[in-house]
Amino acid sequence: MSILIYRNSENQVYKISIEDFEKRVGIRYVNALIFEKEEYREKLIKKAQKKLKHPPVRQMNAWTLALHQKAIEHPKENLFYIRWINSYLGYGVFAAQDIPALCYIGEYTGLVRKRRFHKYRFNDYVFGYVAAGKNTPYIIDAKEQGNFSRFINHSDAPNLTSRWVVKEGLTHIILFANKFIPKDKQLSYDYGDTYWRSRSHPSLIT
Ligand SMILES: C[S@@+](CC[C@H](N)C(=O)[O-])C[C@H]1O[C@@H](n2cnc3c(N)ncnc32)[C@H](O)[C@@H]1O
Repeated sequence: MSILIYRNSENQVYKISIEDFEKRVGIRYVNALIFEKEEYREKLIKKAQKKLKHPPVRQMNAWTLALHQKAIEHPKENLFYIRWINSYLGYGVFAAQDIPALCYIGEYTGLVRKRRFHKYRFNDYVFGYVAAGKNTPYIIDAKEQGNFSRFINHSDAPNLTSRWVVKEGLTHIILFANKFIPKDKQLSYDYGDTYWRSRSHPSLIT
């Protein structure tokens, strides 16, 4: 099973197994989308297909695929490490090496389920699911199962960009570097205004 690079409080970077990582942070590590109900996958494929009938949407998808498809299929290894920052921010994800602009970092994974505001309002690990860019009543919930991307913190001046891409019919949310990121810099993306509306203001991560 694959290995994560992890940095402990003594500033040592080392690799641990997925199983040890799961035990340490109390989540199930999943590197692909999983669906609460199989019918959700089918519905979301249909929604994406419909949206892709519009030429500008199709073209946008073709560009994103042209740029990232190879890396999505064979992601670069050892790009990042996860480390505890402090009790306010919790964990964060950091560059384990210099990362060039446009480099594919990974996919936001988790459990795809229906959005129910009363229930998920205070879940910090929810990413709105868009089918080929169109809002849907679904979310990607990475609270209990997800990958490293659920540990990436928010910044108003982020070095990552999130983007949707349709691959084999299904929409995925991917993250890529929007600029050169030097080794040991924290990775961040913009969670969007809605995220912070019901929470205290984010602290500055540059
Ligand atoms: C998706 S999680 C990110 C990973 C989180 N740090 C952890 O340890 O699990 C989102 C939560 O991290 C914290 N967070 C992320 N970015 C932040 C920021 N810029 N300022 C303050 N808190 C932040 C908030 O608690 C937020 O609800």
